[in-house]
Amino acid sequence: MTSKLLRGRTLSFLRWPEAIDDHAAWRYEEDGGLLIDNGKIVAAGPYAEVAKRAGAGAETIDHRPHLILPGFIDAHVHVPQMQIIASYGAELLDWLNKYTFPEESKFQDAQHGRRIARLFLDEMLRQGTTTVAAYCSVHKASAEAFFAESHDRNMLNIAGKVMMDRNAPDGVLDTPQAGYDDSKALIAEWHGKGRQLYAITPRFAITSSPEQMEMAGALCREHPDLHMQTHLSENHAEIAFTQELYPWSRDYTDVYEHYGLLGKKSLFGHCIHLSEREADALSQSGSVAVFCPTSNLFLGSGLFDYQRYRRREKPLRIASATDVGGGTNYSMLRTMDEGYKVIALNGEKLNPFQSFWQLTRGNAEALSVAGKVGTLDEGTDADIVVLDAHATPAMRLRMETVETLAEELFLLQTLGDDRAVREVYVVGRPAKSAIVA
Ligand code: GUN
Ligand code: ZN
Repeated sequence: MTSKLLRGRTLSFLRWPEAIDDHAAWRYEEDGGLLIDNGKIVAAGPYAEVAKRAGAGAETIDHRPHLILPGFIDAHVHVPQMQIIASYGAELLDWLNKYTFPEESKFQDAQHGRRIARLFLDEMLRQGTTTVAAYCSVHKASAEAFFAESHDRNMLNIAGKVMMDRNAPDGVLDTPQAGYDDSKALIAEWHGKGRQLYAITPRFAITSSPEQMEMAGALCREHPDLHMQTHLSENHAEIAFTQELYPWSRDYTDVYEHYGLLGKKSLFGHCIHLSEREADALSQSGSVAVFCPTSNLFLGSGLFDYQRYRRREKPLRIASATDVGGGTNYSMLRTMDEGYKVIALNGEKLNPFQSFWQLTRGNAEALSVAGKVGTLDEGTDADIVVLDAHATPAMRLRMETVETLAEELFLLQTLGDDRAVREVYVVGRPAKSAIVA
């Protein structure tokens, strides 16, 4: 494969930006270059220097004046919910029963699963998202379809079939043994194949019996390098029902703790109403709390207290995510815009550098894939997004008064969406322009 030399305004984070003027937290080149060879970034820095390292045959792609960043990462999303996004009028448990479970039962049909997996990954790439942690349906075929599609595109994705054996219609239920066996088979076939990573995925404590929770714990013990993803403390009725189903538990988090599901690769969606004890338990185990602002607002679930979780004596590791289809937008720019507002309602701020850190390096660290994606560092995979802050008439007009990079990023987050995503690269190959409409 020939090498590629990208030129543009490059931005990549080294660590969490403490403040808006914490310049040491990021690397920004007004005239930057990225040299890509065999799908990896082999040189990054000022264009003039990087260009010297490019061979005569390198293909140069000039993205000036646009921004070049690491591809966005979405830490929690439901593939089989594409056709129930924008379903009116319910809180979590009713929404699951009325819309979600009937919709997910359609994934018994493997062909439907393949169609949606293809459209889902097309949509992610159109939005600038190059890595997701995804929930498939309970059906093994839906996870197979997702991994096959992801592997074909050479994307780094984390996914799993949900395990659920109670409190839902038959069409979306497995059994403790079938959930275990199907997960095992999927792990054997897909985990570590190319860039595919498997996540053990018990949906949440309500839809798994104690026997199934035991099985999920066994899978985690047998595969300690795998991710585990589930939902935690999203809604008051959900918390009360969980307490009824597990009367011995100290609290909701204790249920997952009991079955050995906490840990550095454990991703807990929502975590809105945690007690201090629960937050301590998550922190001590290195577990990740996933902030899903559009979903939390849409389902009326509550306000995730991002800054409190981050600043507490025992801080939480935090990721951010769309949570489509409880979430209302596929775009991580739209997601962080809503996140900013949720944080504002908690009386705090998230500055634009912190926000773009979260979308890229922050989510990569939370998903334990930071050595591979989430930065423009040399040696990492060339998963890249190119952003245009002049993408719409309203953005162009506002850009007339923008003077700083921070203002430009904030404009991209506040007004931007897929129209601001000019191009996306997956392991160095153009991926957005390659989508056939
Ligand atoms: N809790 C259990 N399943 C789900 C789901 O599909 N979406 C959301 N938002 N919460 C859940
Ligand atoms: Zn979810």
